[in-house]
Amino acid sequence: MSLYSTFAPDAFSGKTVMITGAASGMGLEAARAFAAKQAEVLMCDINASTLDSAAKDIRSAGGTVHALEMDVADQSSVDAAFASCDELLDSLDVLITCAAIGSTARIPDQDRALWRHVMEVNLLGTFFCAQAAIARMKKQESGGNILCIASDAGVNGGGGLVVDTAYAASKAGTLSLVKSIARELSGGNIRINALNPGPTDSPFMAKIGDELKGRIAGSLPVRRMGKPSDMAAAMLYICSDDAPFLYGNAVDVNGGSIFR
Ligand SMILES: NC(=O)c1ccc[n+]([C@@H]2O[C@H](COP(=O)([O-])OP(=O)(O)OC[C@H]3O[C@@H](n4cnc5c(N)ncnc54)[C@H](O)[C@@H]3O)[C@@H](O)[C@H]2O)c1
Repeated sequence: MSLYSTFAPDAFSGKTVMITGAASGMGLEAARAFAAKQAEVLMCDINASTLDSAAKDIRSAGGTVHALEMDVADQSSVDAAFASCDELLDSLDVLITCAAIGSTARIPDQDRALWRHVMEVNLLGTFFCAQAAIARMKKQESGGNILCIASDAGVNGGGGLVVDTAYAASKAGTLSLVKSIARELSGGNIRINALNPGPTDSPFMAKIGDELKGRIAGSLPVRRMGKPSDMAAAMLYICSDDAPFLYGNAVDVNGGSIFR
C-alpha cells in the first residue's frame, strides 16, 4: 500500500499550506504529503540550503512548493515570511508549525541562555507564527486551520536524556497556547489543534545514537520508533475537511508510549 492512500489524490487541491521547519523530519514529510495531495505548499525553515534542495525534490516529483528562509525566533524574519506568503499564495488555508530545537541538558547544566533560546524558537516562534496566520485567516471567508506540533514531552516531561526540562516546558507551553487560542477564537471559522508526537526517528533524534534509539523502540508497545510519515498522516487528517470536530484538541501519536 502506498503512503497516505487513505486520502484522495486531490484531497488538498486548491488549498494552501504553510509549514515551518519544513527542511527536515516531520515538516519535510508533511510538505511531501500535502504536495502529493495537490496542496500548494510554502516550505519555511532557517536552514536555507537544505530547504532549497528538499523543495527541488518535491517539485521534481510533481508537487507545487515554494521555499522560504525564515527564523521563527526573529520577529522581523517572521513578518517578512508572512509578507512573502501574501505575495506567493492567494490565501493561507493551513499553517503547520513544526520548527523547533531539541535540547538535552541535565538540570545543573541548564542556564538562562539555553532556556531563552529554546523558548524563543519553540514557544514564541510557534505563537507569533500562529498570530500572523490568524490575522490572515480572519480576513478569509473560509477561515483556516492551524496545527502546532507539540510533544509527548509537553505532556509527560523530559528527563534530560532525550529532551530536557526547557524543551518539555516549551512544548507544554505550546499545548497551552493552542488551548488559549482555541478559547479566544471560539465561534469563528479558524480551527487550531496540537499534535503530540512520540519518539520519532528524524534528524532531531540523530544526537541520541543508535543504542538509545534501539532501547526507546524496544520500550514502546509497537516496538519501533515513530516515522515522520506516521506524523504526516495524522497532519493530513487533522487539517482535512474530515476533521471539523477537532477543535482545540491535542492528538497523541506515540506508539503507546504511556504503556512503556
Ligand atoms: N522527533 C521526535 O522524536 C519528536 C517528538 C516529539 C515532538 N517533536 C517535534 O516535532 C517537530 C518536528 O521535529 P522533527 O523531528 O521533524 O525535527 P527536525 O530537527 O528533523 O526538524 C526541525 C526543523 O526545524 C528547523 N528549525 C529549527 N530552528 C528553526 C528556526 N528558528 N526557524 C525556522 N526553522 C527552524 C530545523 O532547521 C529543522 O529543519 C518539532 O516541533 C519537534 O519538537 C519531535
